[in-house]
Amino acid sequence: MPGNLRVPAGLDGVTITDSKIAKSGSDGSLVYRGYDIDELARNAGFEETAFLVLYEKLPTSAELGTFSTRLRSEAALDRKVFDVMRSIPSDSHPMDVLRTALSILASLDRHESTDGMEVSIAAKMPVLAANSLRLPEGLEPVRPAEHLSLPANLLAMITGREPTKLELWTFERVMILYMEHDLNASSFTVRVVASTGADPYAAVTAGLAALKGPLHGGANEVAMRMLLELKDPSRAREFVESAVKERRKVIGFGHRVYKEFDPRARMCKEYLRRLVDEYGKGENLYLLCDALEKEMWVRKRIPPNLDFYAAPIFYLLGIPIPLYTPIFASSRVFGWMAHYNEQIEEKKLIRPDAAYVGPSGLKYVPLGLR
Ligand code: COA
Repeated sequence: MPGNLRVPAGLDGVTITDSKIAKSGSDGSLVYRGYDIDELARNAGFEETAFLVLYEKLPTSAELGTFSTRLRSEAALDRKVFDVMRSIPSDSHPMDVLRTALSILASLDRHESTDGMEVSIAAKMPVLAANSLRLPEGLEPVRPAEHLSLPANLLAMITGREPTKLELWTFERVMILYMEHDLNASSFTVRVVASTGADPYAAVTAGLAALKGPLHGGANEVAMRMLLELKDPSRAREFVESAVKERRKVIGFGHRVYKEFDPRARMCKEYLRRLVDEYGKGENLYLLCDALEKEMWVRKRIPPNLDFYAAPIFYLLGIPIPLYTPIFASSRVFGWMAHYNEQIEEKKLIRPDAAYVGPSGLKYVPLGLR
């Protein structure tokens, strides 16, 4: 259509809507509903932050109690979901298992309100995540404990034991940092689906699909595999040099918004330091991360992102690598719901245009003559 606005590839630097959910800034800032991320990570719990992101205000203690109770009571999974997860080939990626399981849940859901569906999806996501590796492998399902919070349950279901205070504190902080990030690729995907009027299940399933990619949520898994392959901090320079020479991206570095530093990566680096000190193990891993960070800055002026420093934390907590992105999803799902709701309120189909650059005027040639 002549006169249409042409925007940069990847919608880089393009503002497409107003949002009251979160704002990341090129100055290295991140705000959820008006609260600085540092303020929240220092003071708030995961469920409290989830309430804030979803319902636009910090909860009173009564509201938080009700919300936590809802999350616990909605976490139970129908046996049919476990059966489907068991039937998936064991070499499938847990993100694919999660996506499939969510589709089954959609057909079992009897909630009448969108809010009911949203809380149900968010409450069940950690249970799906924790079972996404073990059920296809033929192991017995793990279920959440009544007395644990959402992040405590997720970690406990994955590791098979209740986390220590430090482990839970660290894991919960990382989960808070993962919860929301304005118009990241998966949240934008959720909004596109929401704009068609589809239900939250459809939108979250699409969000999961977008999150899986290594340029987005899948980066934490790839970053960890890279760290394990490198092993030795002394190899950081040679590794970065060869990546630069071959014009290869180093996963776990770079961000569309943060060009100087990712505040979440800085915070996670501190958590990692504390974990290594308390555990008395992982020093080499810390030094390797630090060395890569320095080399990437010297050679490319590209800072590490959240995924880069979340990965070694998950590793030290004993979490299997394929579950890193499902954990991300278990947190980001609250952000997705907030975006779903905002988009529904906007009542506008997202439907951009493409400039057609293909051929025209071609004449049909019958099959046998081609
Ligand atoms: N390693 C090496 N070079 C990188 C890089 C990385 N991780 N990230 C960006 N660059 C380089 C690009 O090669 C490009 O260089 P060029 O201009 O010489 O071609 C330039 O920086 C701009 O990169 P581009 O991918 O166009 O920027 P973007 O804003 O679209 O990228 C990401 C954002 C996140 C997609 C990108 O930084 C990336 O792919 N990072 C690795 C994946 C990752 O960790 N994702 C998680 C994000 S939280």
